[in-house]
Amino acid sequence: MKHTLIITGGAGFIGSHVVRELVTKYPDYTIVNVDALTYAGNLENLKDIDHLPNYHFEKVDICDAQAVNRVFEKYQPTGVIHLAAESHVDRSIADPLAFVMTNVIGTVNLLNAAREVWKGNYEGKRFHHVSTDEVFGALGSEGFFTEDTKYDPHSPYSASKASSDHFVRAYHDTYGMPIIMTNCSNNYGPNHFPEKLIPLCIHNIINNKPLPIYGDGKYTRDWLFVIDHAKAIDLVFHEGKNGASYNVGGFNEWTNIDLVKELCKQMDAKLGREPGTSEQLITFVKDRPGHDLRYAIDANKINKELGWYPSVTFEQGLAKTIDWFMDNQDWLNNVTSGDYQKYYNKQYQG
Ligand code: NAD
Ligand code: TYD
Repeated sequence: MKHTLIITGGAGFIGSHVVRELVTKYPDYTIVNVDALTYAGNLENLKDIDHLPNYHFEKVDICDAQAVNRVFEKYQPTGVIHLAAESHVDRSIADPLAFVMTNVIGTVNLLNAAREVWKGNYEGKRFHHVSTDEVFGALGSEGFFTEDTKYDPHSPYSASKASSDHFVRAYHDTYGMPIIMTNCSNNYGPNHFPEKLIPLCIHNIINNKPLPIYGDGKYTRDWLFVIDHAKAIDLVFHEGKNGASYNVGGFNEWTNIDLVKELCKQMDAKLGREPGTSEQLITFVKDRPGHDLRYAIDANKINKELGWYPSVTFEQGLAKTIDWFMDNQDWLNNVTSGDYQKYYNKQYQG
């Protein structure tokens, strides 16, 4: 079937890779990128594909219900892939309400608009909600999150994402809306906004600035290369079971301190620095309040049901990521100037 897809948040980190994947793989689809272009949205991320005839852009804030309804009326989508969100835990601690607005109210606006245009005719329709493993809370040193793990969010970010997940399921259970959900672990790769750990450290290593490690650095995350996430979303959107959710992860756990040391090692080699040089930039700083100790995904369901598995190793993905940031320092310098600098100074002062 030929889809008309609304992809929200397509100018952001993961969204831009999803848009690229689908626009190039399905030339007969109409792909509409709906994005408000907040600090995290950047049309530069799509400059290689924005001339393609099946790509369209609409600057719309998903908190604005009327604007959302207008765009659904205009394009009459058969599918929605919803990625637009406030996505940074530290910002959610500083300003929780912004997260309620976009992540909860924005999601409900989209669900309402889809309900309105689909008018109960759900044949061939699908609402794909892109969520996070953070809704499951924190693990100790053992165990994994499965699709059946009870929700236990701790940060305002994860609480807002958990709430949006519940609304999406409620629209399935109450109105029969065809929905599907993916809960993914930490992504990394090209176009990653440099407020997050990996691009922040790449930027600081290049500029010989301190590498801030929260607490003792023993916090553990599972890292997935962003293009593998985009491929998982494509697969689940097309082949996943109606009403189901799929956990997506990299089978790739790292403590923050070991990860940053690995980055330092690879970057010393690429920058022609003596081994051990960049590690000296590591600085332990005040911990994040409510910091979740460990996230780890059991991605066996998507592997067994749909045959998905990460296509690159962490070594390959990290090398591609470092190369991209070193080749795109203009991109990095553009997004780290202005407002970002104010955020950075406030977040890391003292
Ligand atoms: P991001 O912050 O890089 O991008 C978010 C995008 O949404 C930006 O383009 C921004 O302009 C847009 N946006 C924000 N508020 C909006 C609004 N009110 N109206 C319209 N557009 C708005 O985020 P990301 O890291 O690419 O994450 C995308 C999605 O994937 C989010 O839903 C996030 O919760 C989820 N996710 C992220 C990760 C990760 O590691 N980054 C992991 C799992 C799940
Ligand atoms: P982050 O990239 O913000 O993703 P998330 O909080 O969604 O997992 O952080 C990844 C890990 O790195 C997390 O344990 C917090 C830690 N961290 C630091 O130690 N220093 C930093 O400057 C940042 C941004 C994160």
